[in-house]
Parts: sequence; C-alpha cells; structure tokens
Amino acid sequence: MSLLETDGLTKQFGGLVAVDDVSFAVERGETRAVIGPNGAGKSTLINCITGALEPTAGTVQFDGEDITDTSPHETVQTGISKSFQTASIFPNMTVRENVEIAALAAEHGSFRFNFLKRLSDFSAVHETADEMMDAVDLLGDAGVEAGSLPYGDKRRLEIAIALASEPELLLMDEPTAGMSPDETADTVDLVERLQEELGLTILIVEHDMEIIFRIADRILVLNRGQVIADGTPEEVQESEQVQEAYLGGVEL
Ligand SMILES: Nc1ncnc2c1ncn2[C@@H]1O[C@H](COP(=O)(O)OP(=O)(O)OP(=O)(O)O)[C@@H](O)[C@H]1O
Ligand SMILES: [Mg+2]
Repeated sequence: MSLLETDGLTKQFGGLVAVDDVSFAVERGETRAVIGPNGAGKSTLINCITGALEPTAGTVQFDGEDITDTSPHETVQTGISKSFQTASIFPNMTVRENVEIAALAAEHGSFRFNFLKRLSDFSAVHETADEMMDAVDLLGDAGVEAGSLPYGDKRRLEIAIALASEPELLLMDEPTAGMSPDETADTVDLVERLQEELGLTILIVEHDMEIIFRIADRILVLNRGQVIADGTPEEVQESEQVQEAYLGGVEL
C-alpha cells in the first residue's frame, strides 16, 4: 500500500479547474516531486492534501485511511506535516521555543496547552526539539531569537517546526524560493539528509529543475491542473508533453 494516494482529486475555483482529476501515489521513503509551469495547480494540490482546501471531487488516502475531509490540524496528527513559509515563526521567541511549541501543539491541538502535563512529557518535547534542531543544523542557535536569524536559517527553522510533529510525510512547497545559491545548496543537502537519516517520505514542489532531477525519485508533472507525466526523472525528461509544456518543444 502506498503511503499517500489521491484518486480523481479535483479542485475548482468557480469556472477554473485548478486541479483536474489527479490520481497519483507517494511510496514510503521516496522523495516525490511535483513540477509544472506557473499556475499548473501544484500548490492547490498540496493544499487539498493537507486539508487547507476542500477538494471539489476525488479522495486522498494516507496510510490506507481516507483523509479527504480532515482539517489541516487533524492531518498533522495523522502524520503529514507541511513546511510553511516564514509566517509560522514567532519572531520574538527563541529557535528552541518555536520548535517546542510546534511539538506541543502537534500532541495537543493548537495551543491548548495542558499545564498539568507530566514533567516527563515535557522532557520528551525537549528531546524532540533537540533532534529536529540538530537535523536542520540549528542546534547551535537554539537560544537565538528566531526573528534575528538570516533568511536561509529561518527557512530551515520552518522545516524543523514542520518536523516537530514527527511526521511520516513532509510536504514542501518551493522550499528554496527566495534563497541565495548557497542557502539553496544547503537546503537541498538538508532535504537529502532528511530522507536518508530520518527515513522521511517527502513530497516537494520545486521550480529549480536541477534540484528536482538531483533529489527526486519520481516526478509528477502538472499542466493546467492535469497530469501530463508521472515517472522517474529520466522518463519525465523524455516526455514530449513535458518538453512542450515547459519550453514549447525545446529539450530540457
Ligand atoms: N484561492 C483561489 N481562488 C481562485 N483561484 C485560485 C486560488 N488559488 C489558486 N487559484 C488559481 O488556480 C490555479 C492554480 O494555482 P496554484 O497556485 O495551485 O498553481 P501553482 O502550480 O502552485 O503555481 P506557482 O508555480 O505559481 O506557485 C491558478 O490559475 C490560480 O490562479
Ligand atoms: Mg505554487
């Protein structure tokens, strides 16, 4: 059984079919990429999976369970986490506090802290935070105010926050957007390490073809909401439809 599977997933915004009958699967342990031109429906697809958007039709299954109608908060508790852009960071709190809050929230539902929780549970939260800060190389900055981190570190903190719920599947929507070449290279290394060392399954939307072809095991290609290719990087690269969608027939 695949870890994640969509069947006929469709999202309409009025007359616009942003995601059109998309069926695809993500296998355990793989790095799965979604690519496509601007407006192809990549973010909408991801948002239908997290429950941020309600699909017009079709289903989403995670680990054999139907999660089509679950809210983003419930989705996190089933084991799917999305790395959001810097909006989810509390700038006046430390790196550690940001990650610990995310770990607590994942356990208890957003911000309904139970102050009667046993102390041993807090040490588990502390340990999870240590592990996730270490995974993104921010352990040395644990005490730093999050707002004062450089841009690339903030984006890695975002990833640590997403990891704090200890997901099986990590969703990333253009994690390198706005990064310098150095920050981009670090982030790509990080994504590779997360898959290898934490055994994470990753579903990533990314514009940079070089990155995609380097890290993806399989690639789903969308154009105008529809699947135009789905396969290994080699298979996708050879697809005429993909070449046309991207570059009007020029080879990738
Ligand atoms: N909330 C919304 N209301 C109406 N239309 C929307 C909404 N969100 C997205 N769309 C439209 O749906 C289509 C798909 O958008 P989406 O953001 O999923 O594309 P994308 O592949 O992520 O593009 P990009 O590469 O620019 O991030 C676009 O035509 C977009 O304008
Ligand atoms: Mg997008």
